[in-house]
Amino acid sequence: MLDQIAKYRQLITLADGTRVLLRPLASDDKNALVALFTPISPTDLALMRNDVSSPQVVMGWVDALDYKKVLPLVAVVNDRIVGDATLHFHTGPGRHLADVRIFLSKEFRQRGLGSAMLRALIDVARKLGLQQLVAEVVASQDKTITAFQQLGFELRTTFPDYFIMPDGETHAVAVLILPLVRKREEF
Ligand SMILES: CC(C)(COP(=O)(O)OP(=O)(O)OC[C@H]1O[C@@H](n2cnc3c(N)ncnc32)[C@H](O)[C@@H]1OP(=O)(O)O)[C@@H](O)C(=O)NCCC(=O)NCCS
Repeated sequence: MLDQIAKYRQLITLADGTRVLLRPLASDDKNALVALFTPISPTDLALMRNDVSSPQVVMGWVDALDYKKVLPLVAVVNDRIVGDATLHFHTGPGRHLADVRIFLSKEFRQRGLGSAMLRALIDVARKLGLQQLVAEVVASQDKTITAFQQLGFELRTTFPDYFIMPDGETHAVAVLILPLVRKREEF
């Protein structure tokens, strides 16, 4: 199935008419992916798990590209990567779920692209037979949480002091889950 996912292509048109190609990240996307993350604002950077302002970090992801571990879908406009949304797979008792992460270039936010990319990831996750998707979002990012909820993600819990920022300040993190299969209710 992952071989077929590698051929995944979806052309979408944003409400303002911009045409965007969604496809899996490829090994020759190094420079384009670095160009997506390098202009990141300090506020966004503080919330990221890795120092994505470092080209070495981003190039390392492309070097280690393995769709069995992480499946990145990128949004491409005129050869430029403007968004990156990833499924992070687990093994063993977590093999039925994946974590979801997404990052968009600032000027492509609030144009419907985030929702479209998440819908595409959900579609791919279903094709792969996953049962749940998990998103961890800093609890103060209420608009981001709403965006996930609009796609069916359910707010399950909030962990206090779960992320620590570079300055040592801690933040609560909301855990959102999208069930992809419904278990039959027991009577
Ligand atoms: C979170 C993120 C992916 C959202 O993508 P987006 O393309 O801006 O979202 P959309 O345009 O599809 O909007 C979907 C919903 O998001 C909500 N939303 C997100 N940001 C918003 C903002 N700043 N103001 C108002 N609404 C906002 C709205 O509810 C919107 O629904 P609506 O269009 O029906 O009003 C994008 O802002 C981003 O990349 N942020 C930085 C990284 C991040 O926080 N990732 C999430 C953690 S994994």
